Amino acid sequence: MDIVILKDSEQVAVAGARALQDLLTKKPDAVLGLATGRTPLAMYRQLVAAYEKSSMSFRDATTFNLDEYLGIKPADPQSYRSYMQRELFDDIDIEMSNTHLPECVAGENPLDVGPRYEEEIRARGGIDLQVLGIGQNGHIGFNEPSSSLSSRTRVKTLTRETIANNREYFDDAASQPQLAITMGIATIMDANEILLLATGAEKAEAVRQSIEGPVSSMWPASILQMHERVTVLLDESAASALEKRDYYNWVQDQKRLLLAQIENS
Ligand code: GLP
Repeated sequence: MDIVILKDSEQVAVAGARALQDLLTKKPDAVLGLATGRTPLAMYRQLVAAYEKSSMSFRDATTFNLDEYLGIKPADPQSYRSYMQRELFDDIDIEMSNTHLPECVAGENPLDVGPRYEEEIRARGGIDLQVLGIGQNGHIGFNEPSSSLSSRTRVKTLTRETIANNREYFDDAASQPQLAITMGIATIMDANEILLLATGAEKAEAVRQSIEGPVSSMWPASILQMHERVTVLLDESAASALEKRDYYNWVQDQKRLLLAQIENS
């Protein structure tokens, strides 16, 4: 895992946006896996700013979001579809027909959404770069602790902790969904490359367990230790519980030196 510890959440946002920009420069028709939540908000703002002042384009890109609540309409302001429109899609030149969330369309059996979504991802050639946040309990997407490490896109029951963490977005508890459809852990692991963002001290324990703990379904993000190409972007607070923090910083210094040497040779 490439563990990059940055000064603050703004630097995490800048580095995350740069990774997406670099990919789109190399591969304009890239397939991006996107995340919602508080963490990527600043990264999306950076991306929109970069889009507005450069020639970058999303016209040929495709996106697949990690998850969506079950039981609220796409037009509901609390849906992840609305979040994506508001925070990114409405401000860039992406084709709406190329944007995907695991939404249960009217009349569709919720149990059919997962296999359909998996097929849609496959039909687009798989995900080039998957962006992830992390829950305080180590969840990725809505793969809560005890999720099968081999799971695919499916309906998932949220933990009480996750419901409490997201309670502020809903007017009343009765309107807050308890179920979601999320990419599975195996679906996420199929991505060619993964970018995990974590900011704030409340993520420090989940980050420590996921990076330095054993691989376990109790901390779903720990499965990322088994992926060949993962970059973890952390601010100082999210990195604060890491035992080998100094080593990770040293690795990044060495990497910079090596790249400079290669460039000058
Ligand atoms: C949410 C989402 C995840 C997100 C995580 C952390 O509930 N389903 O995709 O990464 O929990 O959210 P936040 O970034 O708001 O802390």
